Amino acid sequence: MIKPHGAETLTPLYISDDAQRAELTKEAEELPSVLLSSGAAASAVMLASGYFTPLTGYMNIAEATNVASDMKLPNGLFWPVPILNIVSDDQLTDAVKNADRIALRDPNVDGNPPLAVMTVSAIETFTSEQKHLIIEKTFGTTDPEHPGVPAFADVGDNVLSGSIEVLNYSYFPEDFPDTFRTAVEIRENIAARGWETVVAFQTRNPMHRAHEELCKIAQREVNADGVLIHMLLGKLKPGDIPAAVRDAAIRAMVQHYFPENTVSITGYGFDMLYAGPREALLHAVFRQNSGASHFIVGRDHAGAGDFYGPFDAQKIFDEILADALEIEIFRGNWTMWCNKCNKIIMMGDCPHGQDDYFSISGTKMREMLGAGEPLPPEISRPEVAEILMEYYQNEVN
Ligand code: ADX
Repeated sequence: MIKPHGAETLTPLYISDDAQRAELTKEAEELPSVLLSSGAAASAVMLASGYFTPLTGYMNIAEATNVASDMKLPNGLFWPVPILNIVSDDQLTDAVKNADRIALRDPNVDGNPPLAVMTVSAIETFTSEQKHLIIEKTFGTTDPEHPGVPAFADVGDNVLSGSIEVLNYSYFPEDFPDTFRTAVEIRENIAARGWETVVAFQTRNPMHRAHEELCKIAQREVNADGVLIHMLLGKLKPGDIPAAVRDAAIRAMVQHYFPENTVSITGYGFDMLYAGPREALLHAVFRQNSGASHFIVGRDHAGAGDFYGPFDAQKIFDEILADALEIEIFRGNWTMWCNKCNKIIMMGDCPHGQDDYFSISGTKMREMLGAGEPLPPEISRPEVAEILMEYYQNEVN
């Protein structure tokens, strides 16, 4: 199986030994603590799960600046997105400032229990130039209207860095028992299935017909033993379809339209950044850590609105050094319905043109659902449409 990123084995930061974890939980309850932002808590879950191998915790400002500017860790290893624990002034009590170890509390679980213990290496404060540079390089914009920028810009200016030991996986195992999996578990599952070539698919949407076809084309072209559908289970921007509904829709699609035992449906606990190209690179890193040999990047991967060009997230893979990652990228062209072929096609695979095409996107699907319009078979499998329409009728409209 493909090696983890920059390591021989995964380095999950979850404390799996029960006795050690009980002791750490006790320590955490007595330590000074900060309440994490949702983004920082999600990063702790990713670190716990082995997805962010070989990181050992949160970055300091110099590391984050290097990562933002040059996509490199201090040891020269490729890393595309700063992993930061930023807190507001009111979290920085004197007790926290004077402590070597602090507890990190979970904002997404009732009662804010400790999620991790951090050995503090530094407490720093961003200058506005540093913060601007990190946001600009990561997102390609500092526009507050960008759906991911406020999660970096508005949480404060204090950067707490250091290694962490993680006590639990937040709300993910309880809310998504059949879907939330760590990188360690996914590697084990791939090995148990006897898969060698595995193509991973990122999604934050219920899968429409273009998503389905993209997976099938990629699987065929790289001759994969299986497809790893790996969905985001964390926070989304308003209007995106919640993970539980999406999960049900994806399961219905796989059950009805993929051969048995060719797909593994899993999810990871991270909040969506909507960072387009940089997020695509991060996605590739943690799919390599999950044991996938290939990763699908299609049109407007991890994008939002018009912030990125439709294929910027593919182009960025041409700009990084060839040895930055071991995982291979499957580049998907526009995939849509062709009236003349009477099926879903990938642009370039049929001789027809715009007049014959019916474009498909998650945004279009959500707009139709919001307007109460039925999803046609060119966009959605009926089993998927039924689940989504029910959600929109009962919960949204
Ligand atoms: S994402 O934010 O998680 O990337 P989404 O779930 O819509 O959004 O996309 C999942 C993957 O499918 C991404 O690689 C995206 O580029 C690709 N994709 C979505 N729709 C299309 C399409 N119509 N044609 C080609 N690729 C697509």
